[in-house]
Amino acid sequence: MPVFIVISEGRYNLSEAAGALLKQNDYKSIDIGILSAYLTAEAAAQGLASCILGWFKERAVRKLAGCKGKVRLIIALGYPKTEPIPRERRKARKPLSEITAWKES
Ligand SMILES: Cc1cc2nc3c(=O)[nH]c(=O)nc-3n(C[C@H](O)[C@H](O)[C@H](O)COP(=O)(O)O)c2cc1C
Repeated sequence: MPVFIVISEGRYNLSEAAGALLKQNDYKSIDIGILSAYLTAEAAAQGLASCILGWFKERAVRKLAGCKGKVRLIIALGYPKTEPIPRERRKARKPLSEITAWKES
């Protein structure tokens, strides 16, 4: 059965809000990224296909799902019709050396 997981963000409590403000960091997005990565990796490990969606009618989805907070992502999950084969990428992935820096001490 296909499933859509709607991920909405909650509100910071007082100390979290203070920390985010003080450190000028968006911890909610970090948490949602970690959640999505683990969720899709575990889905793949269990033989499920997934697709992360960030482009949708946010207000409509929030209303439909009954979320109070802003909907940030939807993850579609389901059994793939065929053996999942990674499709050819239109744009080549950047080489690791372009997106990482190593410093030895
Ligand atoms: C945060 C995020 C949001 C995304 N939103 C969409 C989306 O709204 N619609 C869409 O077609 N793909 C979206 N994608 C891309 C797909 O989820 C998927 O990553 C893409 O098809 C590349 O898959 P591949 O690496 O297996 O080729 C999004 C990806 C990420 C990471």
